[in-house]
Amino acid sequence: MGAVSGRLPDFPWDKLTSFAETARAHPEGIVDLSIGTPVDATPEVARRALADAVDAPGYPTTVGLPEVRQAVVDWLAGVHGVTGLDTDQVLPLIGSKEFIATLPSYLGLGPGDVIGYPALAYPTYEVGAALVGAKAVATDSLTAFGPETPALLWINSPSNPTGRVLPPEHLRKVVDWCRERGVLLVSDECYLDCVWEGEALSVLHPDICGGSADGILVVHSTSKRSNLAGYRCGFVAGDRAVVAELLAVRKNLGMMMPTPAQRAMVAVLGDEAHVKEQHERYRARRTKLRAALEGAGYTIEHSEAALYLWTTKGPDGPDSWALVSELAAQGILVAPGAFYGAAGNHHVRIALTASDERIDAAVARLSGQA
Ligand SMILES: Cc1ncc(COP(=O)(O)O)c(C=O)c1O
Repeated sequence: MGAVSGRLPDFPWDKLTSFAETARAHPEGIVDLSIGTPVDATPEVARRALADAVDAPGYPTTVGLPEVRQAVVDWLAGVHGVTGLDTDQVLPLIGSKEFIATLPSYLGLGPGDVIGYPALAYPTYEVGAALVGAKAVATDSLTAFGPETPALLWINSPSNPTGRVLPPEHLRKVVDWCRERGVLLVSDECYLDCVWEGEALSVLHPDICGGSADGILVVHSTSKRSNLAGYRCGFVAGDRAVVAELLAVRKNLGMMMPTPAQRAMVAVLGDEAHVKEQHERYRARRTKLRAALEGAGYTIEHSEAALYLWTTKGPDGPDSWALVSELAAQGILVAPGAFYGAAGNHHVRIALTASDERIDAAVARLSGQA
């Protein structure tokens, strides 16, 4: 094992290989609900913008086109009620994952620093901490830090993997706690447009942050909302000084979003029609799949938002690998909750990102009709 890979947690998906083989052996094929990768067409509005921008001989800038930063400010204001943000508080990202994994290094964190993230979380927060040798603390409780003050605290509402939405009073409490201690709060909001029940607020909404982005960053992605994962379009916005620092570092690293992708991001942020259309597609799949899982004896917890059903047979039921195994036997591949933290040991995460035909196949199998 190399020096870098030895520092990182095991790449979890490798552990799913034998279950994928079992699922693939199903006579009517695998229904792969293990990863949240969009499968529906990239919207026309994005394709057109990309095609119109293919002539791009010069280097893009790290800071991005002025139109990109403006599109982000306008979108956050128009769709998510974020007021008072300027374009110099925004940076484009080459998809949000690269940023999540490298933010601790941009900030110069290292051994001796503490990085907090949710008890059940997207694994890249831990990867970012591991890469710089910082102490990673997976917790939903601010008191769990004890006398230690984290340098960086990640939150993720709506959550991957649980689909849970943090209520406004909880978000306000976290903002206050971070500001009192000088902790940088980074809110991964890549599922903010994927809410099925209730409402989800950005941490930059004035009801949460009091109208100031001080001490706060939000990270967004167009991958899920716009079926654009292959274009790699995301952004970070928030605290002016931190954004300026990130820009200074990213410039040196050549972290530039390709110009055609920037044009596509401007186009999708300016259009809500394709988002609504895609949302309804997922809603129909979610309704069917949820009913079939419940009919087959599973319980769905949280899952009021995001693209997953957080599924269990209870704390005394099978563990997450046994659940993966029983679903793989029906040709349905899902992700074990254990990938996301010890609190997921009796859950699986079931993605809604499959075609209608594949979701129908899963529903038929779960209902004993296939
Ligand atoms: C919580 C969360 N954050 C960030 C990402 C990364 O998305 P992208 O790199 O496509 O922007 C994902 C992808 O699944 C995610 O679930």
